[in-house]
Amino acid sequence: MSQDTAQNATQVLDASPDGITRAAQLLRQGDLVSFPTETVYGLGADARRGDAVAAIYAAKGRPSFNPLIAHVASVEAAKRYVIWNAWAECLAHAFWPGPLTLVLPLKPEHGISELVTAGLNTLALRVPAHPTAQNLLAELGGPVAAPSANPSGRISPTTADHVMAGLAGHIAAVVADGPCTVGVESTIVGLAGEAPQLLRPGGLAAEQIEAVLGQPLRGRDLHDPLTAPGQLLSHYAPQERVRLNATEARAGECYLGFGPHRGARADDLTLSDTGDLGEAAANLFGHLHQLDALGRPIAVAPIPETGLGVAINDRLRRAAAPRDASPSNQE
Ligand code: TXA
Ligand code: MG
Repeated sequence: MSQDTAQNATQVLDASPDGITRAAQLLRQGDLVSFPTETVYGLGADARRGDAVAAIYAAKGRPSFNPLIAHVASVEAAKRYVIWNAWAECLAHAFWPGPLTLVLPLKPEHGISELVTAGLNTLALRVPAHPTAQNLLAELGGPVAAPSANPSGRISPTTADHVMAGLAGHIAAVVADGPCTVGVESTIVGLAGEAPQLLRPGGLAAEQIEAVLGQPLRGRDLHDPLTAPGQLLSHYAPQERVRLNATEARAGECYLGFGPHRGARADDLTLSDTGDLGEAAANLFGHLHQLDALGRPIAVAPIPETGLGVAINDRLRRAAAPRDASPSNQE
């Protein structure tokens, strides 16, 4: 990252060819650029440049042992960096580009910065479907390491305004291109062990993955330090307290509903009027940002624990978890 980025204003680029060219140029010179994906806005750096990846950790205030996802343009590009296998072939064929991240063993001579993998011998890879992300990856012609573009421990951004609210002045640019359609981070599946493993529920329902694999995903093993990074509890946190499974707001609380009941106050919200989990996922972080700005504790309606509801409830439990002041407990 150039020395003066922190003092300079963050450029807001559009998704035109000129905007994409400029964004790729900034990445190539080691600067940080936030860009939209269908899940959330990412905070991108050239994954081959240690200096650029280090700047991600600095901008987010993120503990450096958390490995990052490398975004690539295609299955062919992914195969340059990892040892591919039959599960990867099957899942990539069914779900890439899309909200799925695959963790695979690194190849020798992979060229990816050690700061991306945090020293692990595996790499998390994703081919995003968002056309602007695709255009940027094609223009750069290389892998982009990108966590969600929020300060460590805060709610993930689903609009360029969210990115600017958290990181303006700390990154070179954001490519602004509307709200993210999926709204929660990618589902992460580990394919480096003896069976496919769900490492993080996310924007692609585990049931869909299991249907394609023809076998159940192993559950996340909380005791395995290699598979649990980034799954720490206090996470995705609004400034205000969050109370779950609330059928009504108590005095002083605002309400985040699910279904037609949106709470009694004019500024209360519902994740989906019709009880649609996809719509609820897309609205989740945006609505949390909006309610958090009211400065009142947030009561959240019960959400069914099926399909995308699993990822929504995972993020909500993290938002509601007791806060630990230590930075090592935040992503
Ligand atoms: O939708 C998404 O996945 C977004 C967009 C920007 O692509 N990215 C995102 O990145 O959510 P981040 O950094 O917030 O979360 C990455 C997760 C972390 O939980 C991290 O521990 C895990 O991926 N991870 C990365 N590399 C890993 C590896 N080699 N083994 C296991 N977990 C890994
Ligand atoms: Mg994140």
